[in-house]
Amino acid sequence: MQEKNKVWPEQSLLIESLDLDAQGIAHREDGKVVFVDGALPFERVSVNINRKKNNWEKGSLTQIHLASSQRVTPKCKHAGYHAGACGGCKMQHLNSPSQIAVKQRVLEDNLWHLGKIKPDLILRPIHGPSWGYRYRARLSVRFVIKKQKVLVGFHERKSGYVADMESCAVLPGHVSAMLIPLREMIGKLDTRDACPQIELACGDDVTALVLRNLEPLTERDQNTLQEFAHQYPVQWWLQPGGLDSIHLMDSSQSLSLSYSLPEFDIQMPFMPTDFTQVNPWINRVLVAQALQLLAVQKQDRVIDWFCGLGNFTLPLATQAKSVVGVEGSAQLIQRSKENFIFNQTKRQTLGSNALCDVQFKSKNLFEINSSELQELGFAHKWLIDPPREGAFELIKALVELIQNNDLSSDWKPPSRMVYVSCNPATLARDAELLVNQGGYVCSQAGIVNMFPHTAHVESIAVFEKGD
Ligand SMILES: C[S@@+](CC[C@H](N)C(=O)[O-])C[C@H]1O[C@@H](n2cnc3c(N)ncnc32)[C@H](O)[C@@H]1O
Repeated sequence: MQEKNKVWPEQSLLIESLDLDAQGIAHREDGKVVFVDGALPFERVSVNINRKKNNWEKGSLTQIHLASSQRVTPKCKHAGYHAGACGGCKMQHLNSPSQIAVKQRVLEDNLWHLGKIKPDLILRPIHGPSWGYRYRARLSVRFVIKKQKVLVGFHERKSGYVADMESCAVLPGHVSAMLIPLREMIGKLDTRDACPQIELACGDDVTALVLRNLEPLTERDQNTLQEFAHQYPVQWWLQPGGLDSIHLMDSSQSLSLSYSLPEFDIQMPFMPTDFTQVNPWINRVLVAQALQLLAVQKQDRVIDWFCGLGNFTLPLATQAKSVVGVEGSAQLIQRSKENFIFNQTKRQTLGSNALCDVQFKSKNLFEINSSELQELGFAHKWLIDPPREGAFELIKALVELIQNNDLSSDWKPPSRMVYVSCNPATLARDAELLVNQGGYVCSQAGIVNMFPHTAHVESIAVFEKGD
């Protein structure tokens, strides 16, 4: 038998803590760390060890002798740690307040262990609806010969296979309800085996499904998709090649995906594959809170780094004197310019307050240096919302300018910045540089529960600089 598939005798363990993959962590008497999928802190459990390394072992839960008071029954029948369980949610067996507490601890631990930083104030967590929040998703599609059916869904937790999902509690209700009809419909396509993926993007009023079609659809297939769209409220998009090949299947339709930020009276049209925040409820609160924490004044010039399609830029333009949005994707820069014009025109027509002067610049921020940063000019405040990799080069360029700053220069570092992060490790790394070398103080930080039941930790942090 190969070592990989070997199972060792069952052990009884006391779980001490939880990691972000929702694995319970126990320490055996011999000092070895054991990770137990599905076990919660303070539970006494029996475990079958199925993986051994020098310093740690991994096991699966066989019995819970003493259950945690934080344990709940998952709402979704596909969630869990059994064979075939969906890998979309890892924490449905833990109650919501405890999920938030775990994420909060991850943020504080990262800031401390990687950045040696303790924020002056921990912000109250931002949280919203726990179910039906996931407005964007990538669903895999496979015809499984053994089951003689098409599966549409996320991948299984313990394998690369597509989970046999009949419903999903974190997708919007109307999308969950169409999972079975969707797989039945795809099963009828002539090009069934050349359609490996469907990307979901929901706007406030429209649900777009982008079908990745590796072969041209037959006329019969197009009719089948049209019939589906008559029965279920979806707009079909096709993606025969790269991202730039995406187009509406019915070219007589128009782009009608959009979301609103009512507090700022902003409407954001978008394409289904544009980056948009996954959870529209949390996004509204996040944008409002980020702007409040930034404390924008009427005379401020603000830079919105990694601005995407203008999610923070346009709300900022309702408060500041001028805003610059900087982003690496030329397509998103184009979209943000269009969205600015769309909103400005709408405001003029309605006679409401105009947006301030806004400029958008396309730039690879993983390669920015201090002179390029200086060329972008002085801004009183910065908003930073990078991808998982963080904003290291940008922060490094800032710190270099601060350390070499010629006092007669017009350029000054921002007095305040709000950093929205989707990866606490890179936030901590960047924060370390800002605080320990840039002279900033991390005055506030907190978590944003953008993805309930998953291990994903979104957070927000405020950095301030004295004069
Ligand atoms: C987390 S998203 C934030 C987008 C926007 N702030 C929002 O709220 O919708 C990160 C953004 O960084 C952009 N990005 C990724 N890599 C980049 C790079 N190297 N330089 C500049 N922008 C980049 C992505 O295109 C994406 O729009």
